[in-house]
Amino acid sequence: MTLFIKDIKFVMIKNRVSLIFDEHHEGLRTEKEYDYGSFIPQEYLRATPLDLPMVSEGEVARHFVNISIKNHHVDKGFYPLGSCTMKYNPKLNESVAYFSGFKDVHPLQPVETVQGTLGLMFELGESLKELTGMDAVSLQPAAGAHGELTAMIMIRKFFDRKGEKDRKIILIPDSAHGTNPASVTLAGFKAVTIPSLKNGEIDIEHLKKVLSPDVAGLMVTNPNTLGIFESEIMRINELVHRAGGLVYMDGANMNALLGIVKPGDLGFDIMHLNLHKTFSTPHGGGGPGSGPVLCKNNLKDFLPVPIITKQQDGSYSLNFDAKETIGKMLSFYGNFLVMVRAYAYILRLGIKGLKRVSRGAIISANYLKTKISKFLRIPFSGLCMHEFVASGKELKKEYGVRTLDIAKRLLDYGFHAPTIYFPLIVSEAFMVEPTETESLNTLNRFIETLKTIIEEAKTDPDKIKESPFNTPIRRLDEVMAVKLLDVRS
Ligand SMILES: Cc1ncc(COP(=O)(O)O)c(C=O)c1O
Repeated sequence: MTLFIKDIKFVMIKNRVSLIFDEHHEGLRTEKEYDYGSFIPQEYLRATPLDLPMVSEGEVARHFVNISIKNHHVDKGFYPLGSCTMKYNPKLNESVAYFSGFKDVHPLQPVETVQGTLGLMFELGESLKELTGMDAVSLQPAAGAHGELTAMIMIRKFFDRKGEKDRKIILIPDSAHGTNPASVTLAGFKAVTIPSLKNGEIDIEHLKKVLSPDVAGLMVTNPNTLGIFESEIMRINELVHRAGGLVYMDGANMNALLGIVKPGDLGFDIMHLNLHKTFSTPHGGGGPGSGPVLCKNNLKDFLPVPIITKQQDGSYSLNFDAKETIGKMLSFYGNFLVMVRAYAYILRLGIKGLKRVSRGAIISANYLKTKISKFLRIPFSGLCMHEFVASGKELKKEYGVRTLDIAKRLLDYGFHAPTIYFPLIVSEAFMVEPTETESLNTLNRFIETLKTIIEEAKTDPDKIKESPFNTPIRRLDEVMAVKLLDVRS
């Protein structure tokens, strides 16, 4: 078999492979034939065959099914993890991502041979621009936090080019996700906190006081991590612009706004999206992610390269020539198969379907919030967006039962726990995000279970403190689990 990848020719014959290089690959020998074995030092080669168990297909299937149900996952049960949006991953996305034309391409193939792939990325970018009201996009960042970092580096370069190098501060509300100050710091800025008002929104009077020629911009999550839409956002963005700064939207919560509001129309200059939170691609487990960055024309030249462009004849190319680009943020073009899944989701639903998704997420969250508020305190009243935060402060004070204990007890009833102790501005926080795909039946079961657990907390607090009882592993020492990670036993 012979395979050409760029100007390298691979010839595979049985267990030998020949790599035939072009002359201009300096330092590499041409027409050299390698033996697989010679790539690996002798001391690492096995002398005896591997002792593998002989099992039937049925036994293998049972083994993996049993492993898969030991953990909690979105295909097994309700997963209301606030801020993390554990959205159902439609199986159609998986089928499309397994098309051999997508999964078998190699990033070093000549562009003429991957036109469909580039076309998909281009069209995904166009859809995201349309949904966000932005002018340009890069699909390269591998996660939300990576998108934040990319955008912050672009903002830094924007001010460098303008000769405003003294703009060293990025303002961030105190309700922000932890990745926000981390990205800001990593990009060489100083993160300065803006307090929230009692209603959970940004304190505009405080913002006015801290805006200065040292401020490069404001980083806002909207809806914020309390699940509240920043109702004064247009005024806020105008104030920052008047002070010469830029506004960044952490668009991780865009799953509440699809087809309803475009950040570009609200005055944002730049933002990121989390394809796993908004466009149903798999989330978590350390697998590949995608956090595209979108911006207005004022920041377009700074986007990472390559940019996928559509030529007049309808073909696609990769443009590496952008003069002001910040360079590359990831190898090749980003995590392509994640993009395939997101694009399949967008095409399947269309703009109307995506709007229904966001409305469904908002309705489910408000339903839960209203019902749960009858037995657990919700510090921020009024309607929420796709998520809300309750507080277990009183339960801790009166019965010594912490939010952690409530979360653990939920596992006994087959529910994943909501996010706890975040955002930091709510004491004993319990952050619930149901997403749009859960049935009324599931939501009602969750409400009834939570009510039962809170009754248990009042009548038998010690039991709650010892839970969970029904999971494969009881209470973990979470600090030790991180410090002495053992994924094999
Ligand atoms: C509001 C917000 N910002 C940023 C992030 C970071 O995204 P990622 O986990 O993909 O890095 C998240 C993650 O869920 C988030 O909820």
